[in-house]
Amino acid sequence: MTAVWKKTAALTLDAAPFAIRAERASDVVAREALLDASFGEGRHARTCQRLRDGRLPAEGLAFSAVHEGRLVGTVRLWHVSAGGIPALVLGPLAVDAACRSLGVGAALMEHALAAAKARGHGAVILRGDPAYYARFGFSAGKTGELALPGPFERERLLAVELREGVLDDAFGMIVATGDKARRPRARAAGKARKLFTQAA
Ligand SMILES: CC(C)(COP(=O)(O)OP(=O)(O)OC[C@H]1O[C@@H](n2cnc3c(N)ncnc32)[C@H](O)[C@@H]1OP(=O)(O)O)[C@@H](O)C(=O)NCCC(=O)NCCS
Repeated sequence: MTAVWKKTAALTLDAAPFAIRAERASDVVAREALLDASFGEGRHARTCQRLRDGRLPAEGLAFSAVHEGRLVGTVRLWHVSAGGIPALVLGPLAVDAACRSLGVGAALMEHALAAAKARGHGAVILRGDPAYYARFGFSAGKTGELALPGPFERERLLAVELREGVLDDAFGMIVATGDKARRPRARAAGKARKLFTQAA
């Protein structure tokens, strides 16, 4: 676990530091609520979501930021093929609105990139604001010949190499390659359906 303590955070949040730790199964409700609040209900229609649908995040590369036991930030990475080159796609990255500009986003990014590098991954790709992600080394320099499975703005398709030159010849579609998430068992699904019918 990485403790993060920016001066401003200490002043505004009861002097308790943030911690970055591996995501836990029990984070799911708080994480999904944070993502809904950060991106709105339409977030599932976003192009990058096509790379995550029905997949599991890359092993050991999903992190939560916590403050006094409460989840206040999330980031995950996903296996993709970038025109045949194995890479990771990062996202979503989100920080609770009450905790922004305290360094939590940067801590999540730095932790995730270091963990990806330590695990031997060669490159991380994302769709986002160059003005924010440039500080972590992301640029559109190597993504000019890559495409996402849906609408995207060329200048917002960014990448950083964790091994120099990995994306030199990157060309083509970015597609999901991560392990498939297990579907809920038939019995559990039946139970959920029953509850849903009762509630409707
Ligand atoms: C983007 C986000 C994760 C940053 O989290 P954070 O904890 O506030 O990030 P940090 O504290 O490390 O950095 C904050 C700095 O980045 C700047 N910043 C935040 N979003 C930015 C953006 N889209 N473009 C440029 N700068 C941005 C802030 O203005 C702030 O600048 P300052 O340090 O001069 O005050 C957070 O604002 C968020 O969750 N936004 C909503 C979801 C989202 O847009 N996610 C990114 C998808 S591309």
